[in-house]
Amino acid sequence: MLGFRIEPCRGSAVEEYASEGARVRIYREGGGYCYAVEYAFPYLEAVGEYVYKVVEYLTAHQLVRPSITRDELGKLVDMAVRELGVPRQLRAAVRYFVQLEAAEYSYLTPLLYDTRLENVNINGVDVPIYVDHRDYGYNLRTNIVPASREALVKIVGRVYAETGRPLNEQYPIQDTYVRLRNGALLRFAAVISQRVARNPPYVSVRIQPPSPISPTELVRRRTVSPLAAAYLWYLLEHYKSVMIIGGTASGKTTLLNSLLLLLPHKRLAVAEETPEIRMPPSYQNAVMLFTSPMYDYMRGLPGSESAIYLIDLVKYILRARPDIVVIGESRGREVHELIQGILVGHGGATTFHAEDVVEALVRLTGEAIGVSPDQLSAFHVIVTMKKLERGRRVASITELVWLRAHPLSAPAKITVRGEEFGLVTVGWYNQQTDAVEVDLRRSFWLQRLGGHDEVLRRAELLAALADRGIVGAEEVGAAVRRYYDQLRKP
Ligand SMILES: Nc1ncnc2c1ncn2[C@@H]1O[C@H](COP(=O)(O)OP(=O)(O)OP(=O)(O)O)[C@@H](O)[C@H]1O
Ligand SMILES: [Mg+2]
Repeated sequence: MLGFRIEPCRGSAVEEYASEGARVRIYREGGGYCYAVEYAFPYLEAVGEYVYKVVEYLTAHQLVRPSITRDELGKLVDMAVRELGVPRQLRAAVRYFVQLEAAEYSYLTPLLYDTRLENVNINGVDVPIYVDHRDYGYNLRTNIVPASREALVKIVGRVYAETGRPLNEQYPIQDTYVRLRNGALLRFAAVISQRVARNPPYVSVRIQPPSPISPTELVRRRTVSPLAAAYLWYLLEHYKSVMIIGGTASGKTTLLNSLLLLLPHKRLAVAEETPEIRMPPSYQNAVMLFTSPMYDYMRGLPGSESAIYLIDLVKYILRARPDIVVIGESRGREVHELIQGILVGHGGATTFHAEDVVEALVRLTGEAIGVSPDQLSAFHVIVTMKKLERGRRVASITELVWLRAHPLSAPAKITVRGEEFGLVTVGWYNQQTDAVEVDLRRSFWLQRLGGHDEVLRRAELLAALADRGIVGAEEVGAAVRRYYDQLRKP
């Protein structure tokens, strides 16, 4: 394989499945697992020589256009194979590898199309690629070893060229994202220069499956309990705001996205840095926006003066008459616009990077973001996510009550820069039972809204759907619509 070699997994295979252009086989190896891409043919030396010749032939004759379809390419390859007199018994293999070579990500295509992977990590040349697998855990060695810096840079460079972001000696560290034909979103973070990296290129790719993870799927995975999900659903629907916090990759965006699937009858407006949140096709009353930032290399280029930042999007959104305003991830001053939106009566939801509630409140009111302490009252519920050994879990659900506006004898109090808030722990994670427990009677907001029994009914609905294996985003949406129809019947 041009620029790659295979170092086979050892041990015994435990599962095999198909991924774009190849099969994936998982091996139990030592104490862990090994991830093998099994190409359809062995890569014999003779095959390699002919692959090389065919690629050269096609390049020299300038036959391959960037937008070429698989079928068209197949015909060209067949022609080249005949012209070059490739022996019959090698033709199928040569054809296969040329096709693969020409595929979007060359030999990495099967890896990047495998939505059962969470991350693909390339650690330079002569080192195997590692992956994080949703079912087999983290840091699995793969059988693929990049052997040529150039080959690797070419593949990664193609992605960046396509998305218009430079990745070169001058700009050696860069992020970008692409959407695959199958709808999955790939988020790339790459470093390519020896100026800054010991064994470049280093490339990390986060893979987001085409369709969002539904709340019932999260129930099945024990990330959230039916009651916790029903409670958050009810509050969001009644314009209470929810902030989801947690560490990196703790599942914040995933939980947020799943909750939005429970609101098919609401008008949603979503603003994000990267278009991560996905709504299935039947959710039509939604505005989904993402930024178009200006990088310093764009300065002076046409269009660069019209860079669009998150804060611009949120300002727009508030004029778009949404029921629920969603900022995919709050990092800076756009939070002020969200707060304004919530204070004038919209529902709101966002994620924020912080390990716990106190850190979140302190950082929000810190100099960099500058939310005034009394405005923290815009956030009604804070959900903390944690990534545990056994999976991602809602670690706690805490209501935030501004004591100056709602004097109550809160069990726990916190003073944030002079303002007192009550912290009401409504939900927590029980290590022994591996369950997210919720005590609705503690909820301050639910008491004010009413709806205790309704939340219980919705919890039953979610539990029943999860039990019956109804986990597709559209299926859950349909079930929720039916539920609302029944509610409205006299
Ligand atoms: N409950 C879950 N069960 C299984 N996989 C999950 C779960 N939640 C998230 N994931 C997967 O974990 C990865 C990270 O999730 P997500 O993007 O939601 O995390 P995040 O906390 O928002 O990360 P970031 O810090 O980058 O914003 C994704 O690939 C997602 O599909
Ligand atoms: Mg996120």
